[in-house]
Amino acid sequence: MTRLSMILLAATLAVPLDDASRALAADVQAGKATAAGCAGCHGEDGVSHIALTPSLAGQPDDFTQWQLVYFRGGSRKNEVMEPIAKALDNQEIRNLGAYYASLPPPKPQPASASDLLAQTGGKLAVQRSCKCCDGDDYVGVGPAPRVAGQREDVLLKALRDFKSGVRVGSGVASMADVTYELGDDAMQALAHYMAAQP
Ligand code: HEC
Repeated sequence: MTRLSMILLAATLAVPLDDASRALAADVQAGKATAAGCAGCHGEDGVSHIALTPSLAGQPDDFTQWQLVYFRGGSRKNEVMEPIAKALDNQEIRNLGAYYASLPPPKPQPASASDLLAQTGGKLAVQRSCKCCDGDDYVGVGPAPRVAGQREDVLLKALRDFKSGVRVGSGVASMADVTYELGDDAMQALAHYMAAQP
């Protein structure tokens, strides 16, 4: 046995794990317990029934974690969420991300085939390449959110916030770029279309 494999074997046998390594794994059950304090606004099952309040169920783990970190650091501004996020430590944020990602996503808003606003929104989504970040079927990838089935009022507010610069988003300012050329009618159509996607 080489010296390296002996060291590795010794490390593997060094149970129980110390607290530092245990803290790295996300705990969905602990996330659920913390989320009881969020349910009054974001819904019992992570599906919001309150105006301008996002559904969190089915969001990618990374997206939820990043938004909480942005609120905590103040780079995403919101007078309700900033103090809530400041009270969360890293482990709680990790657990919350895993918990919400484990829940079934919200049911899409009903839409009829003759819905002209939704048709316009669908075309705009293709032109604006929304899939390229928000995922096939707009279900979210990594730090980019699931937008399919999100509340229409939340989606419209998000687009307006990105356009006006109130919300910055991550790294490369991709959402500021996308919304720069969009008028309010186009943003309404996009929000309407996305809210009806399964
Ligand atoms: C008093 C109501 C309220 C409570 C309690 C609350 N939130 Fe929020 N949360 C909001 C509102 C309103 C927004 C939308 C903020 C905005 O428009 O930028 C939001 C936004 C968020 C977002 C960003 C989602 C997105 O799609 O942009 C996350 C993540 C989030 N909250 C997580 C939590 C967690 C986790 C808790 C509990 C620890 C919690 N919230 C408690 C009202 C609340």
